[in-house]
Amino acid sequence: MKNHLPLTRRKFIRTTAASSVALGWLGSGQAPRVLAATADKPALLGGTPAHQGGWVSWPQWRAEWEPKMLEVWRSRHWFRGSGTHVAEFEKGYAKLLGAKRCLATSSGTTALIVGLHALDVDAGDEVIVSPYTFSASYNAILSLKALPVFADTDPATLTINPALIESRITERTRAIMPVHIFGMPCEMEAINAIARKHKLAVIEDACQAWLAEYQGRKCGTLGDLGTFSFQESKHLPSGEGGAITSMSEELIDKCDSYHNCGRAVGTNQGTGCFTRGVNYRMTQAQAVLLQLQFDKLVQETEVRRANADYLSANLGKIPGITPVRLPANSRPVWHLYSFRYDASRFNGLSRDQFARAMGAEGVPCGGVYREQYYEGLLDEAIASRGFKRLWSPERLKAYRDSFPELKGNKQVCETTVSFVQSMLLADRRAMDDILEAIRKIQAHSAALAKA
Ligand SMILES: Cc1ncc(COP(=O)(O)O)c(C=O)c1O
Repeated sequence: MKNHLPLTRRKFIRTTAASSVALGWLGSGQAPRVLAATADKPALLGGTPAHQGGWVSWPQWRAEWEPKMLEVWRSRHWFRGSGTHVAEFEKGYAKLLGAKRCLATSSGTTALIVGLHALDVDAGDEVIVSPYTFSASYNAILSLKALPVFADTDPATLTINPALIESRITERTRAIMPVHIFGMPCEMEAINAIARKHKLAVIEDACQAWLAEYQGRKCGTLGDLGTFSFQESKHLPSGEGGAITSMSEELIDKCDSYHNCGRAVGTNQGTGCFTRGVNYRMTQAQAVLLQLQFDKLVQETEVRRANADYLSANLGKIPGITPVRLPANSRPVWHLYSFRYDASRFNGLSRDQFARAMGAEGVPCGGVYREQYYEGLLDEAIASRGFKRLWSPERLKAYRDSFPELKGNKQVCETTVSFVQSMLLADRRAMDDILEAIRKIQAHSAALAKA
């Protein structure tokens, strides 16, 4: 059964943020709240909602940012080549991550495209990627006329299962693209070991993983290249925007030329282009807005972590709710906070019925990604003239026929429930409201399943 959820991730984030009020967070000395979960009826059956007052809205604006933003607009130096703001952002972001270099781009998608090109992914190549991701991970590979080959998702971690990568390698495989989905690091040690063994490049899709850590290093510095998104819903937003990070000067120089019309590094004017290129440059205003939010990102990351840890410790005690397993010695950043939902422990209340009941409690949640490989984009790609020229009919048929093997991913798509990141910026009392809502729904799940 394919699951169809009513909201895309971004719509889900907007819907959650709408009608919200800004909430301050309380200190850790706050007394624990006494929960009276079963005493009250679920809101969907006429009870009082567990949470009232909305949630932190996103993105946020601070009046104190206005002078710096006005200054850049009034300067009329908006293009990266006519000022220093983009280069300053790159230095600052690299420092924040402990990366040697950073290149700013126009979006996360363009960061992926530029990165794949710099790693020499070419038409007819294959890239192994996690199926549980935003479609941009697939699309960046497809845009280079390469084939995204899926290694199944581990239902315990929601990330690519490293044990299933090697069986997907063919003589055409050029790179592996692990996706740190929802800001949860992939098992990079195992992935890098496979890449080294088979001489493959690794490009991290860290588009949701700003400041996430794995074994003491930041995501985006663990593979050959890391890529980030600063789209409006992200923890570090500038409407649109992206970045590529690396420990390799040479790779970032390649990315720099390609993203800037093929010009030599540091050349911003003129027509002398020595290599192929596109224009995926960041603007000065985006760079200023991003730098203004660095400290905010660092502070909020800790608040999200503390609230996520509190939720995980308590959700794990509720039968039928399984928090995500994280790699040892890792620190996620929770772009979405997700857990697995077992309807059989809720009297058969389906995941979508559960989400509806939670919404009525004032706690919006839902599934996020569907089995997107069935939704048309891959069928369209493999039916295209170019792909038919590049692969044999047998390979394309075997590729299409392999999707039902992604059983872990199917399970994840059908049973995962997520809260958006801005909810984790609320106070501890609001986290208790979330727990109370779930306990209340579980206690009344038989009645809710029939409602
Ligand atoms: C996992 C992942 N990869 C890539 C992207 C693409 O980023 P952008 O929207 O900035 O192009 C996103 C954005 O949502 C994402 O979540």
